[in-house]
Amino acid sequence: MIVGAYCNTPLLYDPLKKEAVVPSHAIKRIALLTGGGDCPGLNAVIRSVTKTAMNDHNIEVFGIEDGFLGLITNRLRLLRNSDVSGILNIGGTILGTSNRDDPFRFVQTESGQKVIGDVSDTVVSHYHEHKLDALICIGGDGTLAIANKFSQKGLNIIGIPKTIDNDLCETDYTFGFNSAVAVAMDAIDRLHTTASSHHRVMVIEVMGRYAGWLALASGVAGGGDIILIPEIPYEIDSICQNVRQRNEYGKRFSIVVVAEGAKSKGGEMVFQKESEKPEESRLGGVGNVVGRQIEECTEIETRVTVLGHLQRGGSPTAFDRLLATRFGHRAVEILMQRKFGHMVALKGTEIFPVPIEKAIQQLKLVPLDHPLIKAARSVGTSFGD
Ligand code: F6P
Repeated sequence: MIVGAYCNTPLLYDPLKKEAVVPSHAIKRIALLTGGGDCPGLNAVIRSVTKTAMNDHNIEVFGIEDGFLGLITNRLRLLRNSDVSGILNIGGTILGTSNRDDPFRFVQTESGQKVIGDVSDTVVSHYHEHKLDALICIGGDGTLAIANKFSQKGLNIIGIPKTIDNDLCETDYTFGFNSAVAVAMDAIDRLHTTASSHHRVMVIEVMGRYAGWLALASGVAGGGDIILIPEIPYEIDSICQNVRQRNEYGKRFSIVVVAEGAKSKGGEMVFQKESEKPEESRLGGVGNVVGRQIEECTEIETRVTVLGHLQRGGSPTAFDRLLATRFGHRAVEILMQRKFGHMVALKGTEIFPVPIEKAIQQLKLVPLDHPLIKAARSVGTSFGD
């Protein structure tokens, strides 16, 4: 029974779901891509999207290789059940990813020179060439910002938020974050035993470009004594005083958890390699800077560990597998409802569609009065301020 219309497509009443739905035959072929830095849970989402689309709606799903680069170079393949079977617990992405290739600012080499051009029309024509009815983009703020531009260019886009940084607005959690926290917490636990045995200061640098969620969560979960996040510029004197005080009352070791984007009051972020494009600038080194300064001012042996890409590899945690599976399933549901230009978002325990445009307006930074910061301060953790 036709009960209405959405975007000129008749809506049918589904007695099982007790709601109006767009008939499945309206959407036949969709594609999905994973963009930005990889993280645990991407394969779980790919599996969930593909199986939900195939099993519930008889839709063909194409996987695009290497994020938006695959749409520029026309590299996509049909995903069969066997392609997405057995990948739930595997890290990385079977599709490959890229955090460099923005079709609106695509870098090509012409006669030995690097030229930046807009190849977004190529993407649009590949989308139509393959008769795609929608494109699911799985990514963080960079990927979703590009996805949003394609939505404005008329493509039917659905977003799924991922990043170990958890810095995307409008969603309480992105998948990948929980797994990265677990890796970092485990590393902090391991450093604890060696730090206390050798009476050393152990500095651990974790990822977190502009937002300190990962350092905060892993630092609190791992019992870090000092946690430095980009949102709270640190003072080295305050850190050293804290380390000394701990020594005075018998704690002859300290654990300092540093987000790679942390900076001193009035200071700058520390880069391994700077590039014209901010997303290509490689952060890293603040752990060594802080470690050297602590050793100089406290005269306590200080060692530095940079966790790096270990945080992005390996199997997703149970939390991320569940979130990824729910996100993938819900993404197909909102796609069937033609809520294009939206991404799925976790708010409390429920998943809702939210406009991608809203999610990418700004980064979700750690509020200074966040309950975890308050709780950490109350148990004696210093933020170096
Ligand atoms: O955005 C996720 C993230 O892991 C950041 O925390 C980090 O700064 C960046 O990616 C590193 O990217 P790449 O692997 O390209 O160096």
